[in-house]
Amino acid sequence: MENGKFGKYGGMFVSEVLIHALLELDEAFKKIYPTDEFQKEFHELLKDYGGRPTPLYYAKNFSKLVGFKVYLKREDLLCGGSHKLNNALGQALLAKKMGKKRLITETAAGQHGLATVMAGNICGLKTEIFMGIKDIERQALNVKKMELLGAKIKPIKTGAGVLKDAVSETLREWAACSRTTHYLMGSTVGPHPFPTIVATFQSVIGNEIKKQIFEKEGRLPNAIVCCGSGGSNALGAFKPFINEHGVRLYFVEGGGENLNAENSAAAFQIGSPCVLHGSIMQAIQDKWGQIKPSKTRAAGLNYPGRGPEISYLCEIGRVKACYAFDHEVFNAVKFICKTEGLIPALETAHAVAFVLNHPEEFHSDDIVIINFSGRGDKDIETILRFFYGFN
Ligand SMILES: Cc1ncc(COP(=O)(O)O)c(C=O)c1O
Repeated sequence: MENGKFGKYGGMFVSEVLIHALLELDEAFKKIYPTDEFQKEFHELLKDYGGRPTPLYYAKNFSKLVGFKVYLKREDLLCGGSHKLNNALGQALLAKKMGKKRLITETAAGQHGLATVMAGNICGLKTEIFMGIKDIERQALNVKKMELLGAKIKPIKTGAGVLKDAVSETLREWAACSRTTHYLMGSTVGPHPFPTIVATFQSVIGNEIKKQIFEKEGRLPNAIVCCGSGGSNALGAFKPFINEHGVRLYFVEGGGENLNAENSAAAFQIGSPCVLHGSIMQAIQDKWGQIKPSKTRAAGLNYPGRGPEISYLCEIGRVKACYAFDHEVFNAVKFICKTEGLIPALETAHAVAFVLNHPEEFHSDDIVIINFSGRGDKDIETILRFFYGFN
């Protein structure tokens, strides 16, 4: 990676007013992140507040049913219920050290918004969350949690009222207030340096996996499977394994109902490279280059773009781009509830669904790690509605 480019992907395609804020952030990250003081504070927060390291759980019943060893990296056990807190704590701490007074961000599933207000409160920063009206409705529990913690919620009615629209509005707001305010980007998307910063803060997941699997099995895994949209939980888990060519890396996006552009969020299947939210990435667009809305039942995967680094890794074949359809995902929720007594987030269930529905990818002596990115409390109503038509 050089100057925020990953092959042809990445870059800084923003209006002139944001360039100063991005350069300031890049410089601050390079200067502050490596210091002993920052590392100490960050890792203490991850440990004592967040609950890291999260366990690497051997899913015995799951393994027996599929015929190979499956481990779950339990990011659902991180405080707040998903991997999002790793990055939120890192960026909030950085923003505080940069002298910022306020955090803004967008959220879809609500997990990143929740993590941001938690981190903002710890660092003494006000928090405002931009959220599409459709996501506010379907992730009501997380909206209540964010409000209780003191976040201001800004409903976004433009476009389809989903994540893509909330990101556009947050970038617009940041252009007007970047002197005092940090945009706490929630995934490995956006203009440089955001994709690099987010992946760096999330790589704690993969570093722990490497240590834990050696302790448990004495060797590297054969495969790591992650769900994703922007790519933050996946890159977090993959980073320390990218040069370990014996480890297969799978990235599972939201297939939605089918692979028609109107019914899916599978940008690697139905998209192509273009500029979205300040960087070149793989995205779903029409023949005139206009971004098309994505569709999946998992709010956190409902984004038409894939971040620049994951786009590059899929293009060069280091990561295999895969997808799971909505009906496979709901069945995977039922499966993991029954076999392991865990309720996964709908996003996370995409990774489980892929493993269940693609036996041809795995062998009987494989060790497969699924990044269990979040828990499903926020999705209970959607899940019950899918199976029983009521809740
Ligand atoms: C639990 C969970 N997993 C995965 C994702 C997808 O995001 P990313 O690709 O950045 O990991 C989200 C997004 O909200 C999420 O809430």
